[in-house]
Amino acid sequence: MLFERPEAGHHAVVLHVELKSQANPDRDEFVELAKSAQLAVADVVVARRDAPHPKTYVGKGKVEEIRAVLEHAQADLLLINHELSAGQQRSLEGSLACRVITRTELILTIFATRARSHEGQLQVELAQLKHAQTRLVRGWTHLDRQKGGIGLRGAGEKQIELDQRMLSDRVKAVEKKLAAVSKRRGQSRRGRGRRGTPTIALVGYTNAGKSTLFNAMTNAAVYAEDQLFATLDPTMRKVDVPGVRDVVLADTVGFVSLLPHALIEAFKATLEEVVHADLLLHVIDVADPLRAERVQQVQDVLKEIGAADVPEIQVLNKIDLLTEEAAQMDSGLGLQKLAVSAKCGLGIGALVSRIGAQLGVVAPHEVLLDPADGRTRAWLYRSGAVLEEKTSEEGSVQLTLQADEALIAQLQTLPQVVMRGASVLPEVSLGN
Ligand code: GTP
Repeated sequence: MLFERPEAGHHAVVLHVELKSQANPDRDEFVELAKSAQLAVADVVVARRDAPHPKTYVGKGKVEEIRAVLEHAQADLLLINHELSAGQQRSLEGSLACRVITRTELILTIFATRARSHEGQLQVELAQLKHAQTRLVRGWTHLDRQKGGIGLRGAGEKQIELDQRMLSDRVKAVEKKLAAVSKRRGQSRRGRGRRGTPTIALVGYTNAGKSTLFNAMTNAAVYAEDQLFATLDPTMRKVDVPGVRDVVLADTVGFVSLLPHALIEAFKATLEEVVHADLLLHVIDVADPLRAERVQQVQDVLKEIGAADVPEIQVLNKIDLLTEEAAQMDSGLGLQKLAVSAKCGLGIGALVSRIGAQLGVVAPHEVLLDPADGRTRAWLYRSGAVLEEKTSEEGSVQLTLQADEALIAQLQTLPQVVMRGASVLPEVSLGN
């Protein structure tokens, strides 16, 4: 262990600080985050300040109040909704004799327990190492306490240098591994691009129902829980969109408000799928009273990662939780069109059909091929566009295709292929 810090338990008090000088994280959201990390929140202390106190962030009087609350609640952990400098964290831990965890550390802990892929785990480790580097300043290691001793000050400094070196070696090793994983991901993305396979990324405020919708659209069993951040790694699956050959759907990490910038950086590789997606499905929990703010917060993160220009469909999820009147009041938002219930499987068909429209699907085409033209036939099968094959009356191979515009255009350049044009795209009924 690099530092000696008070042991942390699971019984927490939340310290919600409202600063006049900056945007403050949402109090309820922070409590939800704590619960997500399997912590029991015994009490919430609120502090209002113009600016952070340089030494203890909240000032002496507040520290006394917190101490009393911790004692009364028999809590062994203080969670603060802002970032602390290493010195502030150490002072608070010293005077409260209790572990103090910041917002970034809490989110990192949640990320660490949720990372499922190798890449996700590496990203979390990197973020944790980088965070540790910011804490590893003189006055923070256990040796510091001995610095009054003759000759030990130098030893302490050496120890810090060693710790720093160890950390930076590990950072380099993890970065190298991540770069390799990220390269592979880039190659597979470029491969999809070459094959014309569109990627759709699910984005949304945490707990909006992305994983549930992902499952409903792909019939895959992906971890979905009523906990924030149930999804950390993008999970990629194929989904059937009539008229488009293959579509890859990517589930991504849930967004929170004021996601610490260091974390956005650390999760860039995860969010790369979002930046490069052809379409975003922005999942919105209609039953969330803070829905409008959540939508804005997600837009802010999208802007920050450079994905503001990716076309987006807003999917209003959890309509099963709305009363009829509420649903009607929402009609101004176009609720009927894209309202779904991922859980009950309502409206998924309509959503898929809308995705098809957005991706520029064209109606099924019929083509006639010479029976000897095995090459074109094989190519069409490989592209996944063939819906049906018959032998026409004249003896040629008659294929019904569902393909995107690019493939149809390519086909039109082949002189030996007879195009019969588009037939009618099957209606996908609402509420299937
Ligand atoms: P993060 O990974 O934390 O970002 O969450 P997420 O957006 O992937 O949400 P998830 O799919 O894990 O769903 C969160 C909770 O909402 C779960 O308890 C789901 O069962 C519930 N939920 C999802 N969709 C619906 C829905 O249509 N109706 C209702 N009533 N609940 C839903």
